[in-house]
Amino acid sequence: MEQQPGRSTPIVARSRDELADARRRLTGEVSVVMTMGALHHGHATLIRTARAGADHVIVTIFLNPLQFGPKEDLSRYPRTFDDDLEICAAAGVDVVFAPTPDVVYPDGDPAVLVSAGALGSVLEGRSRPGHFDGVLTVVGKLLHLTGGERAFFGQKDAQQLVLIRRMVRDLDFPVEVVAVPTVREPDGLAMSSRNTYLAPSDREVALCLSRALRAGAAVAVDGPSAVRRGARAVVVEEPLALIDYLVLVHPETLQDVPEWFRGEALLAVAGRVGTTRLIDNFPVLVGPGGGALEVFTGSGP
Ligand code: PAJ
Repeated sequence: MEQQPGRSTPIVARSRDELADARRRLTGEVSVVMTMGALHHGHATLIRTARAGADHVIVTIFLNPLQFGPKEDLSRYPRTFDDDLEICAAAGVDVVFAPTPDVVYPDGDPAVLVSAGALGSVLEGRSRPGHFDGVLTVVGKLLHLTGGERAFFGQKDAQQLVLIRRMVRDLDFPVEVVAVPTVREPDGLAMSSRNTYLAPSDREVALCLSRALRAGAAVAVDGPSAVRRGARAVVVEEPLALIDYLVLVHPETLQDVPEWFRGEALLAVAGRVGTTRLIDNFPVLVGPGGGALEVFTGSGP
């Protein structure tokens, strides 16, 4: 069969041996994109960004049971492997590592986990105890198994990104972490595999999350309390969105920023719409010249 450029079917590795074998054949710089499948345009953008700056890309597709609580949506999480593979092929992926849980956890649940510590028990971690230990443990394992020089993660999952950066720094993983801005639907809804759970009426309600972030960011020049007030004014208008938190926090410590704070901060929101829990965030520059940022630049005024 003739192969279109950039559309050759990736090698699918199911076992550790198959992955190691495929990895050995990749020469030059390798970037890694980790996913739980049900790929959408946000994932595809992450993959294309990774592809642009590397010789090869490995995508992992693994629905990690360790990061789901007993009452969470593991059993109904969408599984769309054939479509995922198409997206990977179109984005020029070399290897897809798609293991089952017994390949990743051959001895059952691991006895030793990476602890997310205090940073993992705020915001998402407060509603999802143990979630980030499960995320960091699998990300650590997949970094070892894939052996990439760079790993790409979405700003969409801001707390996850903060924790992965900290793990890489604190535990000396030899990898560079790269953040990719959140990809949104034209109406502002952040793309998420969980958006497929939303009924059409839920979807309208869900828009209040990104609307609130926009409203908060629009008054960032006036300081933290203006940002919080601006964002809250939007969500209180939408009683069908059950807000879990709406915060303006420091982008590394995830603690509320004080009123005198000026510089880069994270405006983050989580809430339930119908039966679906959604999260969203904007990196925001607070103070002179303030407003929404795409991703953190690491420099404040
Ligand atoms: P998953 O939710 O599948 O997301 C995989 C990657 O895609 C993450 O880095 C996430 O931040 C990014 N992503 C998701 N939606 C995005 C969007 N709208 N725009 C940009 N990037 C987006 O996050 C996980 O899986 C898991 O926790 C994982 C890291 C794979 C560990 O199991």
